[in-house]
Amino acid sequence: MKQLILLFAFSFLFIKCNSSNIKEKNIGLIAQKAMVVSAKIEASQIGAEILKKGGNAYDAMIATHFALAVAYPVAGNIGGGGFMVYRNNDGTKGALDFREKAPITAHKDMYLDGAGNVIKNKSTVGAHAVGVPGSVAGAFEVYEKFGSLPFKELIQPAIDLARNGFKITKKQAASLNKAAAKFKKVNTYKTLFEAEWKEGSLLKQEELAQTLERIRDFGSAGFYEGKTAELFVNYVAQLGGIISREDLQKYTAIWRKPITFKYKDYQITSMTLPASGGICLAQILKSITPYNISEIKHNSTKYIQLLTEASRRSYADRAHFLGDIDFVNVPIDSLTATDYINQRMDNFSWDKATPSSEVSHGKVLGYESDETTHYSIIDQFGNAVSVTTTLNTGYGSKVVVKGAGFILNNEMDDFSSKPGVPNVYGLVGSKANAIAPEKRMLSSMTPTIVEKNGKLKMVLGTPGGSTIITSVLQNILNIAEYDMGMQESVDQPRFHHQWLPDVIRMEPGGFNSETKTELKALGYTLYEKKALVIGKVDAILVLPNGSLEGGADARGDDAAVGF
Ligand code: DON
Repeated sequence: MKQLILLFAFSFLFIKCNSSNIKEKNIGLIAQKAMVVSAKIEASQIGAEILKKGGNAYDAMIATHFALAVAYPVAGNIGGGGFMVYRNNDGTKGALDFREKAPITAHKDMYLDGAGNVIKNKSTVGAHAVGVPGSVAGAFEVYEKFGSLPFKELIQPAIDLARNGFKITKKQAASLNKAAAKFKKVNTYKTLFEAEWKEGSLLKQEELAQTLERIRDFGSAGFYEGKTAELFVNYVAQLGGIISREDLQKYTAIWRKPITFKYKDYQITSMTLPASGGICLAQILKSITPYNISEIKHNSTKYIQLLTEASRRSYADRAHFLGDIDFVNVPIDSLTATDYINQRMDNFSWDKATPSSEVSHGKVLGYESDETTHYSIIDQFGNAVSVTTTLNTGYGSKVVVKGAGFILNNEMDDFSSKPGVPNVYGLVGSKANAIAPEKRMLSSMTPTIVEKNGKLKMVLGTPGGSTIITSVLQNILNIAEYDMGMQESVDQPRFHHQWLPDVIRMEPGGFNSETKTELKALGYTLYEKKALVIGKVDAILVLPNGSLEGGADARGDDAAVGF
């Protein structure tokens, strides 16, 4: 029953579905020099303005990030965290981890009752669900290493947007109205998100503007110390949470070595642990390398089957091996070694599905609604950044810090509360992803940069919880194997398999009935629910003549702005 309810809830989050399985070739925005693609036009414009003023991709990243915290409250954030992968114009690459951390007093069994069962909603709703946020530390880390314009100029547009307000879209109105009851239940006061929203309503966020001003004036300390920290810690304590002043003071973002690997002529750079995206992407792409993909019809039975079987095996490994590399020993090299991958695919057969029970063990529950956000930027100097950031599910924990106007994440649910018990994305985990003080929870985020022949080719990423990895995967293949344009690629219907539950999720209307019948005959269980969409990809493709094509996902309000 719980599974059914969660599946039902999941299917209703997304508003727009694909009405046809034939996707006409849409061409995205073409720009000659620079581009920002993000979940909201206001944020893309603010980022692009910074580039026009002579700022670089990192300046634009900071401006876009703060703008999304204002214009896209469902996932844009200062109370959450994320990951950035970058490639500079000289080809150097790197990655920043500004993922949330478990509080110092967190412990392995904090979401279990006396009988050892997971307490419903404790890791997803309210102050207990909150991880120590990393976004503001991440922004300053980026600024110190790569920023070029004065920081004040980067954050000011977001402050103005919060103070003066912006008109919300139809999708935002529906999403806010839907979340109102949860905001009400969680908070001790009436938050400004609880109102009768309509398309075009003005959303002004004065308290958030003041918090952003403290960040502008005092730097990172404007968030992790002083008044903001006091408001944060006091309110969380009032709601029964455990994040302390010390937790905030101790938070640091970490530069990490990204995962890099080759897929045919392409060099792929993606996020490493605590994000699982890069490892899983490498495993899946290596699993399918021996097959001549471009000769398999796009989204055909064989295509879906091959990607499903590769994903099944990779997600099974994810559940068992992956966790915060600072806490657990993860055999990344072995997991991504070609021999190991080939051996994992040994029992793959075109004749029938490999049941997940034969790949590994686990129990299945279901999914819930989710929201994260990704933005891709290429600047006029040729630098590229790929950033995925989140509060976890839509509006995170629904806690809105009283007096400070920002929403806190519910990222603690990305830990494995109990081995084998699924989280909101239906993902199961093991000891590797158990809760420990100051540990980072495992993520599926996959901010990615693709090069071809040593040159920048594509910047991409997406929200979508566990479906992030498979959405990024399918877009890489759309470009590398099917020669699509960026918008055309983003528009394609997507499917997803994650080992457990043992189902292929498919965007409705996107796949023909013959394919579905064939898949069922091979032993696959399909899940295709009205309005289900998988991922919301924002990407940029470098075209052969050097101009840029944006891919802004029409499943949301996403927008590309460039020049
Ligand atoms: O880090 C993760 O994998 C999740 N917290 C991401 C959540 C997400 O993508 C929700 N978006 N639709």
